[in-house]
Amino acid sequence: MSEDVQGQAADEASESSESSEATIAVHWREEGYYPPPPKFIGQANASDPAILDRFAEANFPECFREYADLLHWDEYWHTTLDTSNPPFWKWFSGGKLNASYNCVDRHLATDRNKAALIWVPEPEDTGDTVITYQELYRRVNEFAAVLQDLGVEPGDRVTLHMPMVPELPVTMLACARLGVVHSQVFAGFSGGACGGRIADSGSRILITMDAYYRSGDLLDHKVKADEAVEAARKEGQEVDKVLVWRRFGGQYSAKTPMVEGRDVFVDDLLADHKGAVVEPVSMPAEAPLFLMYTSGTTGRPKGCQHSTGGYLSYVAGTSKYYQDIHPDDTYWCMADIGWITGHSYIVYGPLALGTTSVLYEGTPNYPDAGRPWRIAERLGVNIFHTSPTAIRMLRKVGPDEPAKYDYHFKHMTTVGEPIEPEVYRWYFTTVGKGEAVIVDTWWQTETGGFIGTGLPALFPMKPGSCGPAALGIYLDIFDENGDPIPKGSGKAGNIVSRAPWPGIFQTIWGQPERFVSTYFEKYNKDKNSTDWHDWPYFAGDGAVQAEDGYFRILGRVDDVINVAGHRLGTKELESSALAVEEVAEAAAVPVVDDVRGRAVEMYISLKPGVPADSGVEAKVTKAIETDIGKIARPKNIWIVPDMPKTRSGKIMRRVIAATSNFADIGDITTLANPEVVEQIRHQVQNTKHAKGEVPRELTEAEEAEIKSFGSE
Ligand code: WTA
Repeated sequence: MSEDVQGQAADEASESSESSEATIAVHWREEGYYPPPPKFIGQANASDPAILDRFAEANFPECFREYADLLHWDEYWHTTLDTSNPPFWKWFSGGKLNASYNCVDRHLATDRNKAALIWVPEPEDTGDTVITYQELYRRVNEFAAVLQDLGVEPGDRVTLHMPMVPELPVTMLACARLGVVHSQVFAGFSGGACGGRIADSGSRILITMDAYYRSGDLLDHKVKADEAVEAARKEGQEVDKVLVWRRFGGQYSAKTPMVEGRDVFVDDLLADHKGAVVEPVSMPAEAPLFLMYTSGTTGRPKGCQHSTGGYLSYVAGTSKYYQDIHPDDTYWCMADIGWITGHSYIVYGPLALGTTSVLYEGTPNYPDAGRPWRIAERLGVNIFHTSPTAIRMLRKVGPDEPAKYDYHFKHMTTVGEPIEPEVYRWYFTTVGKGEAVIVDTWWQTETGGFIGTGLPALFPMKPGSCGPAALGIYLDIFDENGDPIPKGSGKAGNIVSRAPWPGIFQTIWGQPERFVSTYFEKYNKDKNSTDWHDWPYFAGDGAVQAEDGYFRILGRVDDVINVAGHRLGTKELESSALAVEEVAEAAAVPVVDDVRGRAVEMYISLKPGVPADSGVEAKVTKAIETDIGKIARPKNIWIVPDMPKTRSGKIMRRVIAATSNFADIGDITTLANPEVVEQIRHQVQNTKHAKGEVPRELTEAEEAEIKSFGSE
């Protein structure tokens, strides 16, 4: 079916509104709808609109029984939602269960020989590794026995710094089996970043792998473990044991030596536990399952703590209704397990439902942009899940590749950042071949699972909008005073969730006051109230709601830069740059990037007496790569004579963000040093002209984001 037929006549009228302090003006064209293909509707898990009534606000919170009933409970709960200590909600209180049992053991009776995981290594000449539920059970038990031997107890934290290999879900599920809280750090993050997270979580064990493939290279990963242990030690946390999985069994692929007494090869330990069976520990529903660190506006990352019962129920329910996972589907989420998407929608959701989940080790365009489609064709993938960044990149480097391969998706997901309607259309028409629904899912590390998205058989798609609130979620847009902004007004504001839901994180590890102040204080009117109505969840995203009730997410309202769907805190970037001796001041801003959504640019001013040509740029890049990882590498570093500042001395990031993006600089009358703005603008924009780096014209939403970037 052609795009013209699919996309119904778009409403060309632009909407516009006045901009004020409390609202951001939005002007854009409303996009046309795409109806879900009839074949999809016919087989969908949720195709009867009665489900919407079951999850209506009047049925909250009991509606979420439907999700919890997808699991096996050792003990049924007595209170669905306990609000006695707001906003530290407790879901399914009194209930007991084990996440590993739910994702593995209970499928054995009927599906032991079914593939639980299919691992695709990056080198294309290597075969896939197929892990059946029976084999997963064996591996999880044996590794749980290894952990048990090391004396870990329920509630202990263990840090993982692992690449996309099957040993990662095995490790997570082994922890879960014992009630041990895992904290997986994205393998692309540096040893230093991992060390900070080890220290924050108080982990005494680090689990890593010697090496893995990325873009054709076998990377030495173990070296990062040594750096991580060192970094943790500097923060006062000792690591007793580093468990090293080997990418190639029996053979060490890293150069860094093993540290005697501290480092151990996992395959050596496993040899002593062949055939071991470890009873899953029955955990209270509110026991923490894992920590997932994410960036906030201060340097210290936030360890989002997710629960066992509420989280697992929520990801199982949303995997069933939104990912439309059926037992016989082959599901592939191309995200990394190091992010929340991989936890919820590669490991816990799909395995709780007993489906087959595909894991890919490498980069999507290795060795060429046809790779994802070859994998999809070979494995018969029918549900595909990725991010706008990956879609943009594959569209750029291989726009015609999908047509060359014989695969058929029924369902495709996009997550992590707003997707441009143009890119959406390529995803629909070229990747999905007009046969698949697209589910645009808005959510966060904090939310555990999707909270803004439409049921694919019941809501038509609209490019650029995530859709309505998910089942049992009641979203609103508030202005700065907490008054709801009516839908269809064309005015943007802060998106909030009026009520809690089972997947919401429980707290920030070790920082409960920050949990309350960041997410609830803004709109809470009575801090003594135990009524959940008084505790709307402030997500930190700007959004606008169209007349049809669909939400369009405009991006972060805080100082977080979303690079390729991953949140980087400006403060983290800046403190890394400030560690370079010559640097006096540093400011990080987002720059619109056609592939990654946003990239980082750094502005640096030097200490007196340091010459401008002293090679500070390379040092800053190195520092950021070491502290955070290559994902954060700045696109440009500008050494400037001074930063634009308010009279109180605060750097005005919005002014430099506008400079980097060639956007309107806005009002600078309140600056202490307005003359520096013009100077910086010349320097940056002339260089960008010379390098051919002038960005395309920004959309209204991008312009609004850039111009309001950074709190003042
Ligand atoms: C952004 C990733 C628009 C948003 C799951 C959010 C999105 C942040 C979407 C969370 C979407 C996520 N459309 N923007 N469908 N999904 N975002 O914690 O700004 O890594 O707050 O979780 O990504 O990023 P995080």
